[in-house]
Amino acid sequence: MSRINDNISLSIPNKPEYVSVIRLTVTAIANRMGFDIEKIEDIKVAVAEACTNAITHGKNDTDNFFVEFSIDEEKLVIKVCDSGKGCATNCIKNPDLTLLNEGGLGVFIIKSLMDDVNINSDLGKGTTIIMTKFLGDDM
Ligand SMILES: Nc1ncnc2c1ncn2[C@@H]1O[C@H](COP(=O)(O)OP(=O)(O)OP(=O)(O)O)[C@@H](O)[C@H]1O
Ligand SMILES: [Mg+2]
Repeated sequence: MSRINDNISLSIPNKPEYVSVIRLTVTAIANRMGFDIEKIEDIKVAVAEACTNAITHGKNDTDNFFVEFSIDEEKLVIKVCDSGKGCATNCIKNPDLTLLNEGGLGVFIIKSLMDDVNINSDLGKGTTIIMTKFLGDDM
C-alpha cells in the first residue's frame, strides 16, 4: 500500500493565458516528487496540450475547467476535465506526420510523452483526459 496519497485540485478559467500557470504548477509538483528534467519537460508539454484542448474544444466558455494532480511515491496522475462539447474518442486518429501543416497533434504528443493515457468524452457533456507518469526507470 502506498504511504503517500496527496491530491491537488485546480479550477481554471477557460482562457489560454492560464495554460502557463498550469505548466508552472505541474513543474513545481513534478520537481518536488523527484522527476528528472527530461520527464518534467514531457509532463509539461503533455499537460499544456491537454489544457489547450480543454480550452479550444470546450464550447462553453463561461465554465472553468479542472486539473487534478494525484501524487504517490511511484507516479503522478494528472486529470484534465472540461464541460465542453465533447467528442467521439474513436474518431481521434494518429496524425499523418508527413503533412507538416496537419493539426491533430495534441493527443498524439500526449500519448507519446506519458506512460498511460485515457480519454473519456461525452458528446455535449465534456471530456476528461487522465495521464500518468511513473517516477521509476522507463519500462
Ligand atoms: N477537451 C476536448 N473536448 C472536445 N474535443 C476534444 C478535446 N480534446 C480533443 N478533442 C478532439 O480531438 C481532436 C484531436 O485533438 P488534438 O489535440 O490531437 O488535435 P487538435 O487540438 O485538433 O490540434 P493541435 O492539438 O495539433 O493543435 C480535436 O480536434 C477534437 O476534435
Ligand atoms: Mg490539441
